[in-house]
Amino acid sequence: MTTVGILGGGQLGAMLAPALQDLGADVHVYDPDPNAPALRRAARAASGSWRDVPRLQEFFDACDVVTYEFENVETEGLARIWGLEKLLPSLQVLRTTQNRVSEKEFLRANGLPHVAFADGRTADELPEAARRFGFPSILKTARGGYDGKGQWKLASPAGLDALLAGPAREALDASGWVLEEPIDIVLELSAIVARERNGDEVVFPLFENEHRDHVLDVTLVPARLPDDLEAEAKSVALSAARALGVTGLLTTELFVGRSARSSPGQIRIFTNEFAPRPHNSGHVTRKACTFSQFEALARILLEVPLVPPRLVSAGAFCMANLLGEVWEAQGASGPLDLAAWEGNPDLLEVVLYGKSGVAAKRKMGHLTVRGGDAEEAISSARALREAIGRTGPRRSV
Ligand SMILES: Nc1ncnc2c1ncn2[C@@H]1O[C@H](COP(=O)(O)OP(=O)(O)OP(=O)(O)O)[C@@H](O)[C@H]1O
Ligand SMILES: [Mg+2]
Repeated sequence: MTTVGILGGGQLGAMLAPALQDLGADVHVYDPDPNAPALRRAARAASGSWRDVPRLQEFFDACDVVTYEFENVETEGLARIWGLEKLLPSLQVLRTTQNRVSEKEFLRANGLPHVAFADGRTADELPEAARRFGFPSILKTARGGYDGKGQWKLASPAGLDALLAGPAREALDASGWVLEEPIDIVLELSAIVARERNGDEVVFPLFENEHRDHVLDVTLVPARLPDDLEAEAKSVALSAARALGVTGLLTTELFVGRSARSSPGQIRIFTNEFAPRPHNSGHVTRKACTFSQFEALARILLEVPLVPPRLVSAGAFCMANLLGEVWEAQGASGPLDLAAWEGNPDLLEVVLYGKSGVAAKRKMGHLTVRGGDAEEAISSARALREAIGRTGPRRSV
């Protein structure tokens, strides 16, 4: 039996584990948090820090192949492990994609479309660099950001000064930073490429993503996009996966929009960032595609050849994230009240991640619906989510 290790025990690992088990593998999970959701799905659960080299070594020794579901794994500890060839995608891919500076340098070096940017190491360098780069701009920490954390809109030099007087300074000093031009976004996309050890690759249908307060709100497939932009987005994603030498999944987040600097008026594609792992937007593949992002990764890790993924039917599919706010709206601190889901013919699945502790903006679950067309799928997913918020203990008294 093949033993697959997953670094990171969040919901992505929790959904990957059964896909691996369905192909006969044993699953081990490593996470610093002993309550992480995926640890409950694993035959063996190890809890230790990312710097605990002996524990990590023990974990690697017990596994035939190791992947990660969390790209902010600290690589200093991993780099000291024997048997690192078991890690897929490789440490090099992880290093490049977990740092926005190296990610952007990679895009530039490989001629892939990206937003105008500047980068630097310390907060002290920022005022001068931001002045030269121009306002408005978007400032991001080079490492560790997710769901919009670690990024700020800069409208003016005074705004930057105020930011640097606060706690952001420390985060910027600790990780370095990038400045980006703000794109006038028409559409956000993601593309998941699955690439085997021998270089054979497939790409999932493109996903269209809508964010709310910097957190993914809904994902729609198929994306509403002209053929030429669809072909370009897929080609960028495939080129990136090849150039990085990914074995596993590579998710590419893309903007379709206008740049005031380089192409006023013209709608273009810009690569935003990569995730070398399953992605929140890819949850929709569980019901919309002939196999899911998790099954694709499981096949790659277990050396089962891939076939191109297709949509299971005509129409449109929409995944809506269930954030902590849904639990708060119900007044539920424990399990969510299921009543609102009953008998809804559009609903394909509801997945609750079993996280301990409800918090605003925290990704706690998702639901997926099918609709006759894009508008119908999106409005039905949102309506269902709102209906869930309206049920529950607080509403029934
Ligand atoms: N240069 C930009 N121009 C316009 N909007 C942007 C830009 N950069 C980021 N955004 C907006 O902020 C969102 C989050 O940015 P980004 O993906 O870089 O950060 P993140 O914290 O890694 O987010 P996530 O974890 O959701 O991927 C983007 O999806 C987009 O909506
Ligand atoms: Mg992002």
